[in-house]
Amino acid sequence: MNEILLRNRGTANLHTISVYREQGGYRALEKALSLQPDDVISIVQESGLRGRGGAGFPAGAKWRLLTRYRVKTVYLICNADEGEPGTFKDRYIMEFDPHCLIEGMTIAAYATGAHHGFIYIRGEYDWIERVLELALAEARTEGMLGHSIMGSGFSFYIDIYRGAGSYVCGEETALIESLEGKAGRPRLKPPFPAASGLYGEPTVIHNVTTLSFIPFIIINGPDAFKGIGKNRKEGTKLFGISGHVNRPGLYEYPMGTALRELIYEAAGGVRDGKGLKAVIPGGLSAPLLRADEIDVEMDFPSLNAAGTMLGSGGIIVLDEDTSIPRMAQKAAAFYAHESCGQCTPCREGTHMIKFLIDRINEGQGTGTDLEHILKLCRYIRGSTICAFGIAATMPIAAMIVKFRSEFEALLRS
Ligand SMILES: Cc1cc2nc3c(=O)[nH]c(=O)nc-3n(C[C@H](O)[C@H](O)[C@H](O)COP(=O)(O)O)c2cc1C
Repeated sequence: MNEILLRNRGTANLHTISVYREQGGYRALEKALSLQPDDVISIVQESGLRGRGGAGFPAGAKWRLLTRYRVKTVYLICNADEGEPGTFKDRYIMEFDPHCLIEGMTIAAYATGAHHGFIYIRGEYDWIERVLELALAEARTEGMLGHSIMGSGFSFYIDIYRGAGSYVCGEETALIESLEGKAGRPRLKPPFPAASGLYGEPTVIHNVTTLSFIPFIIINGPDAFKGIGKNRKEGTKLFGISGHVNRPGLYEYPMGTALRELIYEAAGGVRDGKGLKAVIPGGLSAPLLRADEIDVEMDFPSLNAAGTMLGSGGIIVLDEDTSIPRMAQKAAAFYAHESCGQCTPCREGTHMIKFLIDRINEGQGTGTDLEHILKLCRYIRGSTICAFGIAATMPIAAMIVKFRSEFEALLRS
């Protein structure tokens, strides 16, 4: 079996608790509650599950950090901000399989000792929030959530919090600030949320899809998860493929699947019989790959070795007619708009980059502009509190380095 999260795709009314339970739903929670929390953590650790929100930190290790705080209040947060351009995986789970997420959250809460959880959902997903509210109500009514779940004595409550459209609020500490009612600006780390997160208490935070893998891992065991995947055996990954392909959509493939296979087999190749120019492999923040670089395997280390990243798994395919300077212009506008303004290099630098890229696209760029942009990218990277500085500069630098002649052709002199 190569599908975990999408294995029930197409099942009518999967979002209701009755249909979810017909598919075996909530059996994993029942099993988890019969184990010791530490045993649940060991199973997740053994599975090798790595966070699917971008950074790929091992989930079990994160949970283990929390156990030293069992005597204190622990919070669990589901990061459903899904702000990375080109990404549309979390919304599928929440809209069509919300109980899978609720079950995964409840198991994670039991393992880490959390009694209160939050789903921080992207503000634009208003209809999905309603689907989630209904699912939470059903779970409470059937005793899968709330006081003494399934009579176990373990209680867990989930609230939904809607974001207000800020990309930076997907960064875990900015999200926590926002959840506390403050401006969504990242905190300095350390301390990491596992030590001091929401309201200063130990907090575990995961992406929607990371949490949604948990029921499968508990029911089927760590080996069933590890058994999937090409070389590194890291389970599956949801890939949202968009751009110039014949069949854009959401696909689930084993980790380590070749990017070429995803583009040409899953998504049916480049549309209108056109040639491929470049691919963004992991959401806009992932540096793009040229057409001759797509034989890379889609897993964390392989993409890092290729100078890019797996990120959110949002694959954006660009055909031969795409203007990379125009693409860079759109990216620069996005990052300048989304910088939270807390760190001077990012606040000023992203606008400076936007100004220079706009100027180049208008035919007014000068001979030193490209070097100037690359220098700004280097300055911003590493001099900001959060990884937004990296996210905002790496893709633009890669566009210039890999497609320099396209930018040079637009320069005035
Ligand atoms: C600028 C920025 C935006 C981010 N946006 C998201 C997001 O929308 N969703 C998400 O799950 N993680 C996002 N992250 C990553 C989170 O900070 C964090 O690593 C993640 O929620 C941890 O979950 P995981 O362990 O399941 O990967 C973002 C990070 C940065 C730097």
